[in-house]
Amino acid sequence: MHDLIILGGGPAGYHAAELAARGGLKPLLFEKRNLGGVCLNEGCIPSKALLYSAKLYDYAKGEGQKYGVSCKDPILDYAAAVKRKDKVVKTLVAGIEATLKKAGVEIIRELGVIKGKVADGFEVEAEGKAYRARHLLICTGSESLVPPIKGIESAMTNREILALTTIPQTLAVIGGGVIGLEMASLFNSAGSKVTVHEMMDKIAGPFDREISQELQKMYEKKGVAFKLGATVKDVAELGAEKTLVCVGRKPVIAGVGLENLGVPVKDGMLLTDEFMKTGVPNVYAAGDVNGKYMLAHTAYREAEVAVNNILGVRDIMEYNAIPSVIYTNPEAAGIGETLESAKAQGMDAVETKLPMQYSGRFLAENEGGGGVCKLVWSGGRLIGGHMLGNPSSEIVTILSTLLFREMSLDQIKKIIFPHPTVAEIIKEISFHA
Ligand code: NAI
Repeated sequence: MHDLIILGGGPAGYHAAELAARGGLKPLLFEKRNLGGVCLNEGCIPSKALLYSAKLYDYAKGEGQKYGVSCKDPILDYAAAVKRKDKVVKTLVAGIEATLKKAGVEIIRELGVIKGKVADGFEVEAEGKAYRARHLLICTGSESLVPPIKGIESAMTNREILALTTIPQTLAVIGGGVIGLEMASLFNSAGSKVTVHEMMDKIAGPFDREISQELQKMYEKKGVAFKLGATVKDVAELGAEKTLVCVGRKPVIAGVGLENLGVPVKDGMLLTDEFMKTGVPNVYAAGDVNGKYMLAHTAYREAEVAVNNILGVRDIMEYNAIPSVIYTNPEAAGIGETLESAKAQGMDAVETKLPMQYSGRFLAENEGGGGVCKLVWSGGRLIGGHMLGNPSSEIVTILSTLLFREMSLDQIKKIIFPHPTVAEIIKEISFHA
């Protein structure tokens, strides 16, 4: 009998397994594929590795000239970039395996299926063998949503596009959200003619409207075409060599025996409360399977909350300070309310903003680069922050901290930022609030 069975070895599952073992529990982790889940194997990490190659290529092709650096006849050896990406993924997967081994986590490399309750816990079966534990943690993740569009079976999802070793001449992207924009950025830099077909009137989903529009303009200048309000009816009509479909993801709730426990599911999402408990005692869930934020960093925190509660340490999941980033070049990042979302909720909110060029460091490193940073306030407190410009993905952590600590404007003004950094823009804006 184990203390905890974890189904799924993605960010939620592997983090939970390590924490549980370190907390003195005896966890058993089921994962049939590579450890690391979608994020590590076919999402966040491989895309960042390839985007970095694309960024270097952009500098070599001409961006560098703005800084007095030119290269003669640069080439992007895409197969070599993919090889490097695979090496990065392999290193990280091996790192997780080693960490879990060191922590004393037992791993079964099979799909675990819940059979039901037993006297003092639960039974999970894999390849005809039964395993028992006192607690269950469901971290089965999510999978790509594939809309019922004619010819969609010929389209790639994030999995296939990240495995390509050659650059298509033309790429049609269905969905202008995070995956669509990051892949449009990558393949545009690599030489494809990219068209993004987005159903809504703006790209980048819930991102601040001005930032979404600015990002779109920047990419139009680089040669990406955007079709907004677009309803794709037939993949063949897009006329592209390759098509990527990225219109969102859905939780994986089938095939793991959830019905044998009667775990509450609503609209295809496994319901969880603030303790990451499902409606069934001693059964917890974390990560994309609850359909809430579907981000690796949310999954990590949800896993911590679940394990702490299993260990008897009260911990609560808070969703008010979850950053999101689009790793285009330049990056866009945001957290909390936008002025538009705050007003829609009837909040008395105001926004202060500055162009990124207010930062000396930004100006020094972004020749001719636009970008903006916007902070949203209500009652003298920060309730949101949004920016476009490099390195937004790193700076947003500061906003995350400010929001998490519910800091007032007066407190923020007193924080000392190192000079020169792009993050100083936050301090600068607070003096304009
Ligand atoms: P998404 O939810 O970000 O964007 C999907 C887009 O497709 C939306 O703008 C939506 O309006 C549009 N859409 C929906 N149906 C459509 C249709 N039939 N035709 C045209 N457009 C349509 O989903 P995406 O990009 O697939 O990413 C999935 C998830 O992966 C994200 O929710 C995120 O959790 C995760 N992810 C996060 C990244 C990051 O944090 N940087 C990077 C990549 C993925």
